[in-house]
Amino acid sequence: MVPRVLPAKAPSSIAEAVALLREGELVAFPTETVYGLGGRALDPAHVARIFAAKGRPASHPLIAHVPSADEARELSRGGSLGAAGVALAEAFWPGPLTLVVERAAHVPPELTGGSDSVALRVPRHPAALALLRALGEPLAAPSANRFQSLSPTRAEHVVRSLGAEVRLVLDGGPCREGIESTVVDVRTDTPRVLRQGALSLEMLRRVCPHAALAEPSAPSRDELRASPGLDPKHYAPRARLVLVERQALAAAVRHEAERGRPVGVLVLGPFDARDGVKVERLPDDAEGYAHGLFAALHRLDDEVATIVVERLPDDPAFDAVRDRLARASHGA
Ligand code: TXA
Ligand code: MG
Repeated sequence: MVPRVLPAKAPSSIAEAVALLREGELVAFPTETVYGLGGRALDPAHVARIFAAKGRPASHPLIAHVPSADEARELSRGGSLGAAGVALAEAFWPGPLTLVVERAAHVPPELTGGSDSVALRVPRHPAALALLRALGEPLAAPSANRFQSLSPTRAEHVVRSLGAEVRLVLDGGPCREGIESTVVDVRTDTPRVLRQGALSLEMLRRVCPHAALAEPSAPSRDELRASPGLDPKHYAPRARLVLVERQALAAAVRHEAERGRPVGVLVLGPFDARDGVKVERLPDDAEGYAHGLFAALHRLDDEVATIVVERLPDDPAFDAVRDRLARASHGA
């Protein structure tokens, strides 16, 4: 079955989405980060449908999306986001920040992968906010892609990967950020970044100077279970992805081409490609790069067997996208 694709801006589209959600159907919607696959967060059966559609293990928790910090508080134990949570929420909500707090008793464990914590986010995209307000209850929404595959930053990406599972895709055009929200555990006084994302560590530290990354290289098995964004193999294209220094790009591409493998390159600057090599060039600033990254990978993935990616600058501004590329190349 092909889903309907309706303009996210139109009030009639939002009304249709609300009606479908109340019937227990799945609806994909735009956020400023990536497209989400929405179901009602407090309904265990609806949440189960999301896991089934994505092919995601039920132990991997979902984010509950709400229209304001007040609604977020209602989902946290004691009605509080904690000192660090309040400070971060005030600074960055609505926006690409997800807070992990202790969950209130009425939040079903099906949403949280059995954990006593819950992840909360107030998105900034006007269509996402309109949908949440019109629905009047929180929406569970993982990225609208199959488990471990490339994240969707355009409505067409959702149609292609989950077209058979969703009834409606609200089309809000390309996502502004292009990379997922930053997930921060604020259950203690020292906020810990569980998943790097659109909001940089530097920005977080302007509000919480002690914020730190959770062990980036070797997540514990418990952490992995709690935060699949930490899984070394995540965000992966079907094609093999290899990371290469700029000066070695031409040789790497030649190596693939000579073996008859369709090859593409993802570069930050000019690249003289020989015939038949598909080139995607992204801006050399971190925000522009994040904005275009998944769309470029989707285009390359459609056509080539190997994607040669130019290594990114060491600048911490690139940390989140460097993390996504490292995972996408895992095992290549
Ligand atoms: O930008 C985003 O966050 C997008 C849009 C749609 O809002 N959503 C998204 O959801 O990326 P998903 O399910 O693909 O990723 C959720 C991340 C995972 O890394 C998950 O482990 C973490 O949030 N997470 C969710 N609940 C958690 C919890 N209770 N404790 C620790 N981590 C949690
Ligand atoms: Mg995801």
